Amino acid sequence: MKIAVVGAGYVGLVSGACFADFGHEVVCIDNDPARIDRLHDGVMPIYEPGLAELVASNVAAKRLSFSTDLAASIADARAIFIAVGTPSRRGDGHADLSFVYAVAREIGANLTGPAVIVTKSTVPVGTGDEVERILAEAGVTSQFSVVSNPEFLREGAAIGDFKRPDRIVIGAQDEFGREIMREVYRPLFLNESPILFTARRTAELTKYAANAFLATKITFINEIADLCEKVGADVQDVARGIGLDKRIGSKFLHAGPGYGGSCFPKDTLALLKTAEDYESPMRIVEAVASVNEQRKRAMGRKIIDALSAGGGSSPSHGEQQNGGSANNGAKQNGARGKRVALLGLTFKPNTDDMRDSPAIAIARTLQDNGVEVTAYDPEGMNAAAPLMPGVTMTDSAYSAIEGCDAIVLVTEWDAFRALDLPRVKSLVTEPLMIDLRNVYNPQEMRKAGFAYVGIGR
Ligand code: UDX
Repeated sequence: MKIAVVGAGYVGLVSGACFADFGHEVVCIDNDPARIDRLHDGVMPIYEPGLAELVASNVAAKRLSFSTDLAASIADARAIFIAVGTPSRRGDGHADLSFVYAVAREIGANLTGPAVIVTKSTVPVGTGDEVERILAEAGVTSQFSVVSNPEFLREGAAIGDFKRPDRIVIGAQDEFGREIMREVYRPLFLNESPILFTARRTAELTKYAANAFLATKITFINEIADLCEKVGADVQDVARGIGLDKRIGSKFLHAGPGYGGSCFPKDTLALLKTAEDYESPMRIVEAVASVNEQRKRAMGRKIIDALSAGGGSSPSHGEQQNGGSANNGAKQNGARGKRVALLGLTFKPNTDDMRDSPAIAIARTLQDNGVEVTAYDPEGMNAAAPLMPGVTMTDSAYSAIEGCDAIVLVTEWDAFRALDLPRVKSLVTEPLMIDLRNVYNPQEMRKAGFAYVGIGR
């Protein structure tokens, strides 16, 4: 089948490459000519494991191509996926649908059909209705159907998630839409991946409900972790103890510095806006969004407390760096003038994505309290540098660590799971490890001569 995917960003590119790998003939369209030129040269706009190879092999097999020309590319496509961005609108947190609607208008002006138009971007309930209205108003006369098919891809594992999904959700209003979508996903039907056909609005809401539920699960265990610290319990064991209950499940119960990324923060806010518009408040999600937002700076304060508790009173790098305006409330700030190394900056490993990464708020809180920050990330340095002014970016974990009073493991890249601890110890001023992802074993760290602070244990 001929498929057009509009938007060669994260979702569009992964989906396009995977559809091509299923055997379909796919063209990915983007209005950024530089991006399309780079794709022609085999250069990916994002870091995603396996994507460059998957694109290359499908381009070589002539199943995948790239274009800036939407009109020509959709001419004989049976399925046209809209996979452009839906960022939070500045000021009010609603999803900004201007890119989706602009694409819908362009499709409307050029569609010769018959075709299904599929929203793959995460869009609020009712967006499909609006796309349908735009197409009808544009005077499309051929048969068409507007379908919602949300993606549930995790960055860093997107290709595996696409090819072996837990489920596929398809919101279609008519048999024509369902029939084409069945054909699009035929290889997965053969795989016996569950495919759920629903009404369009239901599919749109399912995506938000899934992300809000996952964000809630993370936030729940994060608050349990805080309580564990107060009462002397271990959140890792609590998570295992509840996760083995099949009704709860063990995934997404890893306590940490708060969720970030391009989806959870934006989608929880957009869901709250929808709830507000329909006068159906979602108080749990409200609490989740606000607790998570506060947690990122709280992690900065946790580091300052550890530095104040563990470090001596005289700052090791001079008093001159105490330029920050805020201070650590009424508490004594023994961290001023000290130096901290952040290991891992992206919102999670195996991505170069810095969007809403807790590392940004953590670094700022430290700087506000007169702490000097060095940092290293395996893939995120280019994206991180402009977002973290004043942070010294280094070219390896060990250069970041050199001369530091504390090491903070912010993102659990594999490269940080097996640090050479004797070497680390020889490089730092104070052997203090603050492990915001509970990667290390507290007893072993203490045996290795480190002061160790984890999350919730
Ligand atoms: C998420 C959803 O998983 C995916 O289905 C959706 O389509 C897009 O949003 P992604 O943003 O790539 O995917 O990241 P994910 O792996 O879900 O992690 C999100 C954030 O939660 C990260 O900051 C991660 O560190 C954090 N997290 C996740 C935890 O803190 N604890 C956990 O147990 C799991």
